[in-house]
Amino acid sequence: MTNIILLGPPGSGKGTQSKLLVEKENFFQISTGDILRKVVNSGSDEGKTLKKIMDKGDLVPDDMVIKMMLNSVDLDKEKKIIFDGFPRNIFQAKTLEKKLDEISMNIDFVIFLDVKFDILEKRIKKRILESGDKDKRTDDNESTLIKRLDVYKELTFPIIKFYEEKGNLYKINGMLGVEDVNNKINEIIR
Ligand code: AP5
Repeated sequence: MTNIILLGPPGSGKGTQSKLLVEKENFFQISTGDILRKVVNSGSDEGKTLKKIMDKGDLVPDDMVIKMMLNSVDLDKEKKIIFDGFPRNIFQAKTLEKKLDEISMNIDFVIFLDVKFDILEKRIKKRILESGDKDKRTDDNESTLIKRLDVYKELTFPIIKFYEEKGNLYKINGMLGVEDVNNKINEIIR
């Protein structure tokens, strides 16, 4: 089965493209952002701790996010999996590789959605305006977005080289329209 990682800065379209791949291509999406937000919304003590970290735009500590991801999903060879928002640093990339290796699974395609930073800002601002009170993300504001982008540049961007060296990195112009980006992804994975 085909397994992919969608990699890209905040607002690059990872969630949007995952949704299309789930709907049209029968993929199973693992979004660490969604998993973490569920814990936050539960109101538990752990959720309160996570909220503080996420509202600042920092990464959740590796041990927490890895444990939550593995507890909430069944890494199943029969599923076509999209990893959305994971891995986010070299440690997570190596941990995922080791975990998949143990169960004879692997990542076939790492798809990097390349979007210029000024466009990301515009997209997130648009998302803030369009989302209703219920869907509003507390990390979608100007100062947190700047921090999320800084964290991305420092910790997540270096994993592009990690996958480039492995030979499974594919870069897509994420500034194309949603359907065009989706077509490019399909050209790669088919
Ligand atoms: P997460 O939920 O993963 O958020 P993110 O990476 O910041 O990404 P976004 O969800 O903001 O954007 P996206 O790339 O999915 O774009 P989208 O499709 O929504 O993480 C949130 C937080 O959780 C992190 O800051 C961290 O604290 C924590 N976290 C998560 N994973 C972690 C991990 N592994 N380790 C540690 N901590 C972790 O699109 C954005 C907007 O643009 C939408 O309005 C959309 O309609 C629009 N759009 C999308 N594509 C296009 C297009 N092609 N053209 C025009 N508009 C478009």
